[in-house]
Amino acid sequence: MTRRDFINATSASYASLLAWGLLQPAPANALDLPVNGKQTDGKGRKVIVLGAGLAGMATAYQLGKLGYDCTVLEARSRAGGRVWTVRGGTKETELGGTPQACSFENGLYFNGGAARIPHHHQLTLQYCRELGVPLEIFNGNNEAAYLFNDGGTGPMANRRIRIKEYHNDMRGYTAELLAKSLDQHALDQELTKEDVEKLIDFLKNEGDLNTAHLYKGTNRRGYKTKGEPGAGPTPGDMADPFGLTDLLRSGFMQPVFYNVGDYIYEQQTTLMQPVGGMDAIPRALEKKLTGKILFNAPVTELRKTDNGVRIVYQKDGKPQEVTAEFCVCTLPLPMLKNLESDLSGTIKRAADFVPYIKTGKIGLQFKRRFWEEDDWIYGGISRTNMDINQIWYPSFGFQGRKGVLIGYYNFYGRAEAVGAMSVAEREKMALEQGGKIHPQYPAEFDNSFSLAWHRIPYNAGGWATYDEATRRKYYPALLEPDGNVYFAGEHTTYLTAWMAGALTSAHRTVEAIHARVGAYTKK
Ligand code: ALA
Repeated sequence: MTRRDFINATSASYASLLAWGLLQPAPANALDLPVNGKQTDGKGRKVIVLGAGLAGMATAYQLGKLGYDCTVLEARSRAGGRVWTVRGGTKETELGGTPQACSFENGLYFNGGAARIPHHHQLTLQYCRELGVPLEIFNGNNEAAYLFNDGGTGPMANRRIRIKEYHNDMRGYTAELLAKSLDQHALDQELTKEDVEKLIDFLKNEGDLNTAHLYKGTNRRGYKTKGEPGAGPTPGDMADPFGLTDLLRSGFMQPVFYNVGDYIYEQQTTLMQPVGGMDAIPRALEKKLTGKILFNAPVTELRKTDNGVRIVYQKDGKPQEVTAEFCVCTLPLPMLKNLESDLSGTIKRAADFVPYIKTGKIGLQFKRRFWEEDDWIYGGISRTNMDINQIWYPSFGFQGRKGVLIGYYNFYGRAEAVGAMSVAEREKMALEQGGKIHPQYPAEFDNSFSLAWHRIPYNAGGWATYDEATRRKYYPALLEPDGNVYFAGEHTTYLTAWMAGALTSAHRTVEAIHARVGAYTKK
C-alpha cells in the first residue's frame, strides 16, 4: 500500500497525517497555517502580544484566524515599529534629543527603517499579496551612482567616480590578467585546452577584451560628458579607462565602498518596495486588527503566573494590569533588557548581551531632482568613506519636481558619531559631505529629517547583530517559550534586520502555541 493509497483509504485528518509524518507540514511561509478543521481550537484562549511591529501584528493576525483572543500592547501611538515611513507631519523625539517634525512636501517621503524587499523574501511578498499592498521596483544597484573616496591619495581620490567606471575597468583588467595567464599556459595543469578556450571566451565577454585579450576601455563605463552617441557623424566619445595601478590604489576595495551590494543574496535584483511607503504593510495589518491594538500602552512589567502571564502597562499615566494564558513578546532586546520581569536567566542574558547595531538615516528634501536631471541617477546608492556612508536616491517619483533622497545611511561608529549630533548638526554634516559628491546640494536644499535608531524610543537599536559566539550562547533561549511567554521578532531568526525575519518568527510562534494547545501535533 502506497502512502497515497493509505491516505485515500482512510479518513485520517490532516493533523494526524502530519503527526504520523505522512505529509510534509505546509511550509512555514504558507499564510494560512496548516490547521485544517481546527480553526477554532484557539477559541477563548487569551494571548497578550507585546509590540505592534510586524512580528506582533502578524502573530495577532494569524492567532486571530485560529480563534484566539489577542490584545496587542503598543507603546507608541502608531503601529509598525521599525517599518516606519517619514513624511510631512511625522514627529519624533529621540532619547535625549529635541522634538523633530518633518515638513516634506505632500507625496514625498523616505523609509526610515525597512526599505527594501528581496525577491526571495516570499513570506513578506505573500503578506503584501494577501493584504493588497501594491509593490514597485526598488532600484538597489545603480551603476550610474557614485563612489567617493574622501581624504585618499592618487588620481581617483577626492572626486566622484561612477560605479560603472570602476566596475567595468576592474572587470576588464582582471579578465585581461587571467586571460594573459591562460595564454601563457599558467593554468594548463588545472584546465584542459577546451576549458581554457571556454574560459577565454567568458573573459572576453566579461571584461570586454579586444581580440588580443587586452582591456582598452569599453563603452560599458559610459561616455564623456556631451559625448553620448547620437545623430551626428561620430559614434560617441568614450572616456579612457583608469589605469590598473590607480584603480588598485583608489581605496575602493575597502569594505565601506564594496559592501558586496551587487552580489549578496539580500541585495540582488529584484528588490521591491510598497507604492507610497513601506508603512503600507503595517497599516494594512493594523486594519486587520481593528480594536485589538492598545496604543500608547508601554509595558512595564512581565510576570509568569501559575497558569499564564500577568502584564503591567501604563495607560494615561496609570498602571494597568492584564492577565492571559500566553504572552508573545516581540519587544526588541534593548527594551526587554529594561523591563521588570521574572523571565529566566537565559532570556535576561540574551536581552543584556545580544548586540544591536547603531544605524541612522537622514531624509533631505531638494527643490529639484538634480541627481536625475544632471547626473542621470534614478534610484540606487552612492557610497563613500565619509560619515554619510551611503546616499540613496528615491526609486519613485522619477522626473518629478522636488524629491527626497536619503542623505546618509550609516552604521556602527559612523552612526554613533552622527547620532550623537544635534539634528541641526546632522543636517549640516550631511549637506557638507554629500555636497562633495553633489555640488548642487547648497542651491537646491529645502529641509531634512534625521533619525538614529539607537536613540529612538522603544527601539534603542537598529537590529540584532549576532556573531558566532552570541548566536551560540544567547540565540537558542529565544526560540523556546519561557513558561507561557514566547518570543518573536527579527532577533529570534536568522533573518535579522529584515521584515521577513519578523514575519517568519511570528509564524513560528503561532505554530508553537497552537501545537501546545493541542490543535495539531508536529512530529
Ligand atoms: N535589511 C536592512 C537593509 O536593507 C538592514 O538595509
